[in-house]
Amino acid sequence: MATDPDDFERMWRDLAPVGRSASSGGYFRQPFTSAEREATAWFLEQVESRGLEVERDRFGNLVAWWRPSTGSTTRDALLTGSHLDSVLDGGAYDGPLGVVTALAAVDVLRERGFTPDRPIGIGAFVEEEGSRFGLACLGSRLAAGTTSWERARGLTDRDGVSFEDALADTVVGDTDLLAGVGMFVELHVEQGRDLVDREEPIGAASAIWPHGRYRFDFTGQANHAGTTRMEDRHDPMLSYAMTALAANKQARLSGQRATFGRVDVRPNGTNAVPSAVTAWLDARAETSEHLDALLADVERQAQERAGRDGTALTVTPESVSPAVHFDPDLARAIARPHDWPVIPTMAGHDAGVLSAAGIPTAMLFVRNPTGVSHSPDEHAEMPDSLAGVDALADTLERLA
Ligand code: HGY
Ligand code: MN
Ligand code: MN
Repeated sequence: MATDPDDFERMWRDLAPVGRSASSGGYFRQPFTSAEREATAWFLEQVESRGLEVERDRFGNLVAWWRPSTGSTTRDALLTGSHLDSVLDGGAYDGPLGVVTALAAVDVLRERGFTPDRPIGIGAFVEEEGSRFGLACLGSRLAAGTTSWERARGLTDRDGVSFEDALADTVVGDTDLLAGVGMFVELHVEQGRDLVDREEPIGAASAIWPHGRYRFDFTGQANHAGTTRMEDRHDPMLSYAMTALAANKQARLSGQRATFGRVDVRPNGTNAVPSAVTAWLDARAETSEHLDALLADVERQAQERAGRDGTALTVTPESVSPAVHFDPDLARAIARPHDWPVIPTMAGHDAGVLSAAGIPTAMLFVRNPTGVSHSPDEHAEMPDSLAGVDALADTLERLA
């Protein structure tokens, strides 16, 4: 049965303004900020209006449960959902599409008269983007136990606020949300053009490329922009600039991905040679061997340039995500009845964390006509989003 557009469209319209910038149209829903709290409050209203039971863990993650009416079941739980946080100036769909389609899919299943004989949960994981505290999928890593509270509590944002302090005025619980979860299915907007090029509205995921975030700290010697002879300078900006060019060239030559999207210059003055430049490299590759080789090559070239500039460089891995190969039988079982393509992604997801933690996991993708993501231009057409609701409802029904 097609989804009642009113349900999904109404929810999408309600959520759309939350955290959206009036100037760029992009989203700023960093964890524990007012925008993200508003989006979470909206989610809680939606689950409460559906009579779902909310559970919380210590880290800000939430799951809303649709439990079997019989009350008791021996079957493990089926979890769906995604995240509500965004990157800086992000798109509307990355994360929220998986949460809103999950709510609409529960509505569809109820309209079909379906009653689950295993708990079905809708999860909202905190800080999936790592846009505030630097570690990607922080919430799901904590829930899965693959990152310790000891490591997470001290992570700080750009103002020096720690994760622990930012979490302090959030309602939390002490439930181990993934205990008893036997399967996870995450629906996500596609962050690329594979489905567009295939003219397919829906796809399933085969794998996630290994990827990481590495902090490059270049230190030089602050000096006067005019009185310092060029040959006497130790300018970290030059070391950084050459490194950015080298990373781009090496990624293109080796068929991988490398991006410097964030730079911090100190003291960031107009008429002075900077004392230090810190830049973050996001690197992704088809295998961990390719990723290691890309990093080694970029670091070697950066060190060589620093040597010539008389600057110093340290490189610190801040967030590393190994390759994920989703359960192929599960992907096939989900995709085959609809003949959905099964495709890899270069984007990280909470689904990758739960899969790596041993929970059989699958992902559904909804076509993104722009292929653009982590940008206000990210998009999914309403008919494709509704197809996503039906795809998720069918999948949950099949698995539940
Ligand atoms: O960065 C990523 O790949 C994901 O969108 N968080
Ligand atoms: Mn995402
Ligand atoms: Mn993202």
